[in-house]
Amino acid sequence: GTGGGVEPERPTFDQPLVVPPTERGADIRLVMKRARVRSLPEGPRTSMWTFDGTYPGPTIRRRGGPGTHVTIVNHLPKGAGATSTHLHGDHHAAKDDGQPTTQLVRHGESRTYDYPLTVDGKATPGSFFWYHDHRMDRTARNNWRGLQGMFIVTDPPMAGLRLPTGSRDVPLMISERSFTAGNQLTDPFAAGPEMVHGSDGHGSMTWTGDHAPPNDATVGDTVLVNGRAAPYLGVSATRYRLRLLNSSPFSSYNLTLSDGRPILQIGTGSGLLPRAVVRSSVLLGPAQRADVIVDFSGSTGRRIVLESVPAAIGTTGADARQTAVMEFRVGAAASDPSRLPSRLPSPALVSPVPKQVSKTWTFGLHDGTHSSGHGGSAWTIDGKSFDPDRVDHRARLGTVERWRFRNTSDVTHYVHIHAEQWRTVLRDGRTPPPWEQGLEDTWRLEPGEVVEVAARFTDYTGPFMIHCHMLDHEDHGMMARFDVVR
Ligand code: C2O
Ligand code: CU
Repeated sequence: GTGGGVEPERPTFDQPLVVPPTERGADIRLVMKRARVRSLPEGPRTSMWTFDGTYPGPTIRRRGGPGTHVTIVNHLPKGAGATSTHLHGDHHAAKDDGQPTTQLVRHGESRTYDYPLTVDGKATPGSFFWYHDHRMDRTARNNWRGLQGMFIVTDPPMAGLRLPTGSRDVPLMISERSFTAGNQLTDPFAAGPEMVHGSDGHGSMTWTGDHAPPNDATVGDTVLVNGRAAPYLGVSATRYRLRLLNSSPFSSYNLTLSDGRPILQIGTGSGLLPRAVVRSSVLLGPAQRADVIVDFSGSTGRRIVLESVPAAIGTTGADARQTAVMEFRVGAAASDPSRLPSRLPSPALVSPVPKQVSKTWTFGLHDGTHSSGHGGSAWTIDGKSFDPDRVDHRARLGTVERWRFRNTSDVTHYVHIHAEQWRTVLRDGRTPPPWEQGLEDTWRLEPGEVVEVAARFTDYTGPFMIHCHMLDHEDHGMMARFDVVR
């Protein structure tokens, strides 16, 4: 920009982007294991915990409809402990949800998850989900080490809609890490906070120490795309579909293209928007996804940088970080059969929306000063930190509920709900912006903000989670349990 600030130096983009291997079968087996992967362009490879030897793990691509099973085998080093794998965004039974405390897969064991890819008897619409570790207290560490992968529910054939496919449909997992001089991951969790009391007798957990809430914020100094620092991708001068995912533990990115080229957002992670929205930047917090089209036609020979710039809309909460992300090197023109109608076949939103809010969830901080002498702090929902044995809300199967989120802390949170996909009803009392008018599962919630959402509970009963997707916040209390009941 021309705003007078000092622009950080751009990296030289000297390694190619790698697209993770694709798995398309009905019965998929992924082995969690340690592997040495190429993260930085020079020097030794980085030892990570992976799904099947790559970071990100293989991208699963499946058509909506029944019959997808994923078996996860835990062959991580013994010290890694038990894990739990959650398919973020998908609608499936509680037994297949990768519960944070009750479905742990120990070293040497495996678990098969059944993903029917249906909602209320109909095939799940084209979506961009992702799978990641969800082990309570260890989620931030396990994701940092590498237990992350992408999952695409492919689009049903739709008349009038021909989105870029094949090598022009590129999933991009953006995340960040810090490295030692020997190219190994640092361990920001080694000096983690100490749990000072647990759920026995006190209602919930609290932490103490230098990394206790609100000082638990894992950021990295190096941004990775599909596991590699500052990669480049050669593209033809045609339209591309980019599926953007922020899998960072804490940071948000306000993504923009260095030549001011528009980003056409066609979907969220959970299906298409009703209309494509022209955006100059796309703000993505942890776990948020955007499905976008970028048109490189007429730009042969140019190099265009995908970068993150501070977000103009930031309040007192966390701002997006300023950093280069990757580079597109535009080659020759090529034939481009893609077509984009202005109205998109987006999945139906629940309607009508109930007038009454049936549950308000309040995201806050317990700073320990009022505790009964224990001195620990915790991130809280409704004033309490997570307790897996406590049911914080019950929703009846088959009914539509309208939920409200409030943020009484002084930092931004990213609220995620399991089990269903939601309609955003109001953001601060107003109709949400056009890019928030599709289905969603993760919302930005700034200090003082109020967001209301609605969904119908279908198909499955049992326990599910609502939590902040900033992984330290989630590990340190900001999670609650709701049960879908008959
Ligand atoms: Cu992406 Cu509860 O998780
Ligand atoms: Cu948070």
